[in-house]
Amino acid sequence: MSSIFSKTISGDKDLKITEQEFRQLRDFVYGQCGIFIPDNRQYLMENRLSNRIKALNLKSFGEYFYFLQYDSDRRQEMGKLFEVITTNETSFFRNPPQIQVFQDTILPGLLAELRKKGRRRLRIWSAGCSTGEEPYTLAICIHRALGNELPLWDVRITANDLSARVVDAAKNGVYSSYALRTTPKDVIDQYFIQEERLFRIRPDVQRLVSFGQINLNERAQLKLVERSEVVFCRNVIIYFDEDMKRRVINAFYDNLVPDGYLFIGHSESLHNITRAFKPEHHPGAIIYKKLG
Ligand SMILES: C[S@@+](CC[C@H](N)C(=O)[O-])C[C@H]1O[C@@H](n2cnc3c(N)ncnc32)[C@H](O)[C@@H]1O
Repeated sequence: MSSIFSKTISGDKDLKITEQEFRQLRDFVYGQCGIFIPDNRQYLMENRLSNRIKALNLKSFGEYFYFLQYDSDRRQEMGKLFEVITTNETSFFRNPPQIQVFQDTILPGLLAELRKKGRRRLRIWSAGCSTGEEPYTLAICIHRALGNELPLWDVRITANDLSARVVDAAKNGVYSSYALRTTPKDVIDQYFIQEERLFRIRPDVQRLVSFGQINLNERAQLKLVERSEVVFCRNVIIYFDEDMKRRVINAFYDNLVPDGYLFIGHSESLHNITRAFKPEHHPGAIIYKKLG
């Protein structure tokens, strides 16, 4: 299991979490969003949550746990808790071999199939989209693939995340050059409008993506997502335990059309999770195809 904490935020060194408080909070977080915090990350939970405890003028992790359950502001605080415990690392054209396979093989194949059936409707789901770089990357690929044909198509990329803060940033669509560190120069020139030191995604590409907040742990919320030809959920299930992984992957299975494709992170696998997908081996990437 990978760490959910990519970097440590320094907290109040005086505030110590007890073993019991750690377990209570860990179980609470898991119950809310399926993120599992391993025992060896106790000190990081201590560091990160100290800031929240201080901000709320509380005295201990026990009081914070009580606040999360009973306070009238608990819903709002839950959002803050999610922001503190999630890792939102992402970039445009992240893991280029996977995007290449999507752009050169999966997408043209899908578009050809749909054309053959006389259909011009394409749905893609980017689950755990962070600040939007992944769904906008997919939108750029589709824009390139369809060219002048785009106005004839009904294309929508549904993108969502647990953290309201990252969803707001995604909707804004303005990025620093750091977000573009793995993006080809010609793509930057064609698809971004430079505003001093920042880069705004082109509005006609932005329009292809609808953002919203969804907790992958909430079955009812997942059922509201339209059926998709492709699901991207990269670098998200790495933070879940096996049970949560299974539930989320099953939800993607139910959402996908027959022969639809699932993209997970290059260090993630469906081994021991499900056999309902056929792994397809491509140069530098394994893509999962829904069977049947
Ligand atoms: C490391 S980022 C990955 C972003 C993007 N998919 C990529 O690969 O570049 C993981 C994202 O998953 C989101 N996440 C974690 N648990 C989630 C949950 N239960 N429901 C929805 N999103 C979740 C986090 O908020 C975070 O933004």
